Amino acid sequence: MSRIAYVNGRYVPHADAAVHVEDRGYQFADGVYEVVLIFDGAMVDEIPHLDRLDRSLRELRIVEPMSRPALRSVMRELLRRNRIRTGLIYMQVTRGVARRDHPFPKQAQPSLVMTAKRIALPAAAAVENGVKVISIRDIRWERCDIKTVALLPNVLGKQQAKEAGAYEAWQVDDDGLVTEGTSTNAWIVTKDGELVTRNANAAILNGITRLTLLKLAEREKLKFVERGFTVDEAKQAREAFISSATSFVTPVTQIDEAVIGNGKAGSVGLGLRQAYLAYAAGEGRTS
Ligand code: PDD
Repeated sequence: MSRIAYVNGRYVPHADAAVHVEDRGYQFADGVYEVVLIFDGAMVDEIPHLDRLDRSLRELRIVEPMSRPALRSVMRELLRRNRIRTGLIYMQVTRGVARRDHPFPKQAQPSLVMTAKRIALPAAAAVENGVKVISIRDIRWERCDIKTVALLPNVLGKQQAKEAGAYEAWQVDDDGLVTEGTSTNAWIVTKDGELVTRNANAAILNGITRLTLLKLAEREKLKFVERGFTVDEAKQAREAFISSATSFVTPVTQIDEAVIGNGKAGSVGLGLRQAYLAYAAGEGRTS
């Protein structure tokens, strides 16, 4: 079955999905995006993702491309046309097409593009053994809380990770504290059994999965704190993991050359992963 994309009001074959060369997303990275997980045919945390999209748009003074009910019906139509059970919806809104000039154009309609794709859930063995991350300098701007399509530092960081045989790169700020991965949030469980993830300010993207995990941690009465941690503290940690809409909770068992814990996925991370999967199959769904 062929993939279908949505581009500015039309459903088109994926291969033909294109925007104009003077779209400001293409010219200036003047746009924002969201990635929503599709789990067992339903969207997970759809409303928080749409709320964050609205916030990103507001912060950049980009007009909403359509009302929320209209957006939600496009999402559903895209899922239906692509018959996705497990996968993701990618949506991108830019300031629109205008003659190339840095200030905001006087008259431009925001562009809305949406695609959907299938993804495979990670194999149980991969989850058991965890993944490797490397630490790199955080060279991004001061508004990482906005989910913009300006991802060049993230792209370079992920490539560096890949070339080092790692799954992700943890970015480290000038104070020596880990901000987040290039497309995931970073977590550790300290020697004292405390769950730690960086506090959400302009230095990180406040992950929707991160927020859900905090809610689940609270419910399970886990001890947790939102604060920065150094790479050294992470290397000494009992456990580490990353979170995102597409990686859920993925255990980290190596940071640079240091093995974390006993080199296997830790129980807190695995427990949260299970809780998240139950949430994704239950109360987190909207259909
Ligand atoms: N990335 N931090 C960064 C820099 C991200 O790009 C992402 C998401 C996250 C996790 O956010 P959430 O839990 O809402 O997915 C944290 C998406 C998946 C991406 O770029 O593909």
